[in-house]
Amino acid sequence: MAKLPVAVLISGRGSNMAALLYAARQPDCPYEIVLVAANDPAAPGLDLAAAEGIATFGHSHKGMARADFDAILDAEIRKSGAKAIALAGYMRLLSPALVDGWAGHILNIHPSLLPKYKGLDTHQRALDAGDTQAGCSVHIVTAALDDGPVLAQTKVAILPGDTADSLAARVLMAEHQTYAPALAAFARRTLAGG
Ligand code: GRF
Repeated sequence: MAKLPVAVLISGRGSNMAALLYAARQPDCPYEIVLVAANDPAAPGLDLAAAEGIATFGHSHKGMARADFDAILDAEIRKSGAKAIALAGYMRLLSPALVDGWAGHILNIHPSLLPKYKGLDTHQRALDAGDTQAGCSVHIVTAALDDGPVLAQTKVAILPGDTADSLAARVLMAEHQTYAPALAAFARRTLAGG
C-alpha cells in the first residue's frame, strides 16, 4: 500500500509527533514519517524520534535570517523524500518561500478552536474570555499565522477551577487524538490525487 511520506517539524518535547508516529504504525495508516526536524538540536522530541528509528535533523535557527534557516530546512525535507509537512509544536513562523514551495501540503495543529485565539497563550485567553469550551484545530498552513482552512477540530469542556495548565493538559489529549486521523485523511486525498 502506497503511503504518503511526511516530515514532522517540532521545537520541543514532541508529544504530538509521537502520537503521529504511533498512529502511523497501525495497519493501513496511509502516511509514514520519514523525517523529524527541529529548530533546536536539543529538542527532546528528536531523541524520541531517533530512538524510534526515524531520521532526525536538528539545527538551531539562532543568529540566522528566517529565509536562510528555512532554506536549510527545506533542503533537508526534500532530501528525505517527504511529500507533506506536519508542524507539531513547531514554534516558529515559516518563511513565505517555504510556505509557497509547499502550498497546500503543510498541516499544523493549534491548541484552540480556530478562528479563536490564533498565536500564543490560547488557554489563558480562553479562560479570561469566560469560554465554556476550548479545543484544538488541525489546519492547512498559509502565509498568515494559524489561518488556513481547518481540517479537523475537537472540543474540550472548560471546567470550573481550570488553570491554563490543567486546560492545556486536557487539550493536549485531544490534540493527540485529532492530528493523526486528520493527517491520514489528508494523505488519502493526496494519494488519490485530490
Ligand atoms: C502543543 O500544544 C501544540 O499544539 C502547541 O505546542 C504544544 C506542543 O507540544 N503549538 P508537543 O511538542 O507536541 O508535545
